Order: sequence, then C-alpha cells, then structure tokens
Amino acid sequence: MGAKYSINQNSHSQNNKKFRTVSQNLRLSTNIKSIKRHSPTPPMSPPGTNSVQSDASLVSATNSFNYIDNTQKGETDRNHVKHFGLKVLFEGNVLKSISDKLDFTSSELRVLDVGCGSGTWLLDMATEYPNVQFTGIDQISSIPQDIRPSNIDFSVQDVLCGLSFEDNSFDFVQMRLFSMTFDRAYWVQALAEVYRVLKPGGYIQLLEPRYDDTGDEFVRDYSTKVVSILNANDQDPNICENLTPLLEKNGYTPVEFVEKIVNLKTHPLRNEFLYIIRLTLDSCKPYVVKICGLTTDEQYLEFQEEYMEHLVKSSESVWTACAGMKPLN
Ligand SMILES: C[S@@+](CC[C@H](N)C(=O)[O-])C[C@H]1O[C@@H](n2cnc3c(N)ncnc32)[C@H](O)[C@@H]1O
Repeated sequence: MGAKYSINQNSHSQNNKKFRTVSQNLRLSTNIKSIKRHSPTPPMSPPGTNSVQSDASLVSATNSFNYIDNTQKGETDRNHVKHFGLKVLFEGNVLKSISDKLDFTSSELRVLDVGCGSGTWLLDMATEYPNVQFTGIDQISSIPQDIRPSNIDFSVQDVLCGLSFEDNSFDFVQMRLFSMTFDRAYWVQALAEVYRVLKPGGYIQLLEPRYDDTGDEFVRDYSTKVVSILNANDQDPNICENLTPLLEKNGYTPVEFVEKIVNLKTHPLRNEFLYIIRLTLDSCKPYVVKICGLTTDEQYLEFQEEYMEHLVKSSESVWTACAGMKPLN
C-alpha cells in the first residue's frame, strides 16, 4: 500500500529495537491464501500467554469460514453486548415491516432463529413475548440449557444439511451475522432451506455489518485485508448492499431495508460499538495477527490500540438489516 502512518510514535520508539512497527507490518504483503478456510487448525493460544498462535481453529464442521469459535472465552459476552447494541441501534429486535404484520401476542406464532449462537436475541424475544413459541438452532450448543424461558426450544442442527422441521412451519425466521461464515453458495443453500420451513406469507430477517471501511488510510488498509480474505473465500464483502438482491434471487419478496451508521466519534452508541469492535478483533485475533504480520501478543495489542485510535478519529460502524416475505403462492 505504501501508506505513511503517523501513529503512536512514542510506543513505536519503545518497541522499535525489538519488533517491526505495526505500521510496517501493515504494509507487508500478506499471504491471504494461506488463511483460506481449509487451513490446519491447532488451538488458539490461551489468554495471558506471550506467543501468538496464528493458525488457530478457523474451520467449522461444515467447512464454512467460521471465524469465531462460539465456545471461545468471551464470545458469549461479545454476543450479548452486540445484541443490545444492535437492538438500541435498530430500535428493537424486529424490523417494523415484520412487527406491524405479525401478532406477537398470539400463541400460534412460531419463530426460528438460525445460528442463534449464545441465544441472546431468543432469550430477549421469548421474555418479551411469552405467548410465542421460539426455536433456536445452531451447529454448536452454547445457549443456556437449564435456565431459560420455557417458550424456547433449542437443538443442534446445521442449516446447510437441512433442518428437521416440516415445510411451512414458521411465521418468522431470523438469520443474522453470517457474512463471515457463509460463502455465496452457502447463502443460497441456507436461504432455500429457510424458505422451505417458512409459511407462505412468513418473514425472514437478515442483519449484517459493512466491511469496506471509509476511515483513514490506516483503517482502510486493514479493512482492505479483511475484504481480501472474504474474496479469497468466495464470501461477499458487499453483503450489506446485496442483502435485498440475495433475498429476491432466492424467491423472497423484499419488504424493508434499513441502514444504520454509528459515527465512532460522535454517535451516542459509539462506546458500545467501539467495545464490540475491540472484542471482535480479539475473537479474530488468529486472522488479525496473520494478515498484519504480527508475531507476538505485544505487537497485537499495539496494533489494536492504534487501530482503535484511528477508528475513533475517522471511521464509522455501519450495519444493515433486511426483511423479506415468502410469497403467498
Ligand atoms: C456470528 S454468530 C451469530 C450468532 C447470533 N445469530 C447472534 O446474532 O448473536 C454465527 C452463528 O452461526 C452458527 N453457524 C454457523 N454455521 C452454521 C450452520 N451451517 N448451521 C447452523 N448454525 C451455524 C455459528 O455456530 C454461530 O453461533
């Protein structure tokens, strides 16, 4: 990239003798192919250890580019913080076009959360709407098993292998934050399976972050690397703009598209979203160290601080949500 970064000069000079600076490392060409999804998968280094494990587990049972191990320490916290941040940002858990049409007081209503993760959305929804029957599926079990509202069922299932539910079972299906997991073919497969289990006239809700950052050069340089990895894995870095066409191509009628922008300097939710970004970086540490050429935890932490500083100065966190309906016939 050849970018000139004037960042954190003091901390750089302290580390210059020992390490390449983060800025220098960011300029290194990175071997994106080497972190494609079929790479070998030793475990991530435990917190507090000094050496960075750069080949951590990135491969899911379905070979998807599952960048985060759901059972990883801190992952549940991240999911909780992200859930409540997104809920405030989008002014609720359900897009208006869906909540206007469905009766969430009805005991007939059936809702499915595909890839429910720690189950925060489900737990929140099931508490708010005690009459509705909620179902969560995930390929990993990390939802609370013993203490949860009685109107939630959970089972371990892989949406790409076909769900166990009958055709036309659900009024509403949510499937959010899959853009780092699904490649283009998996999206088509998963949307077809959701279509099958949705009732005619039922709704799907998707929500994804934007990847191409419009911040300063430092921020854009990192985001370019992330986009390269997504492209190398045939994942869609422009998923935000493509949510509506994706629904249309897969037989749904798009009914709503909402974009929310959190300016990381001025937005009232800036601290929440900066925290989410910091936790996400930690979750993606095995990738971050590899694409930035970092070799120690110290370098990783230095990069993280610089990146966060640049985000605050220049960037925004952008999220889009989309609702679609399965046509009546
Ligand atoms: C980034 S997390 C999002 C979790 C949750 N939807 C949320 O909003 O917090 C993606 C989730 O999808 C799950 N997942 C990935 N591939 C899947 C598949 N093929 N079938 C079912 N779940 C899957 C992962 O285990 C993970 O819990």
